[in-house]
Amino acid sequence: MQPTTAPAKPQFSPAAQAEIKRIISRYPAERSKSALLPLLHIAQAEFGGWVSPEVQDLVAETLNIRPIEVYEVATFYTMYNLKPVGQHVLEICRTGPCMLRGSDELTAHLERLTGAKVGETSPDGHFTLKEVECLAACGFAPVVQVREQYYESLDTPEAVDAMLSELRGQIHRPILPWEETGLPTSLQNN
Ligand code: FES
Repeated sequence: MQPTTAPAKPQFSPAAQAEIKRIISRYPAERSKSALLPLLHIAQAEFGGWVSPEVQDLVAETLNIRPIEVYEVATFYTMYNLKPVGQHVLEICRTGPCMLRGSDELTAHLERLTGAKVGETSPDGHFTLKEVECLAACGFAPVVQVREQYYESLDTPEAVDAMLSELRGQIHRPILPWEETGLPTSLQNN
């Protein structure tokens, strides 16, 4: 019988711990749960672009709250990935204005080019396709969000091809919140 070793419990890096401490310090001690959203962003950036149950448990432990309180939030918001993802997560808006401007065709084109269906990662591991609701850039529909970057007016195959080609040229590693310029509002204000 093969000896079994328990997988190592995830741990935040020292830089992440310092950032977490800074964020938590903004709230009264009894309200540390208010830091949950930014901590999940940090966890997602630290642990490969998704938050496994073990990572969610780590967030709960860090905030001294029950794991279920983290699961409820992580499963509610589409910006948290609950399974492993590719190097680039393409969030395709499918709400009315984007749909009227061709998001169905855009999605079909992306599926053909990447070999991944919505909800899947491409065989080369480069792209994960997700459908999301309004990205608040309706005037530039159809829109795809990749991390903090918006790709707009993707209503021609050429525009989609250019986006993929740009992304393929980027060497991606998770960008940690404290390294990023142009942080999401949730991280700037919390
Ligand atoms: S409907 Fe797509 S950005 Fe608003």
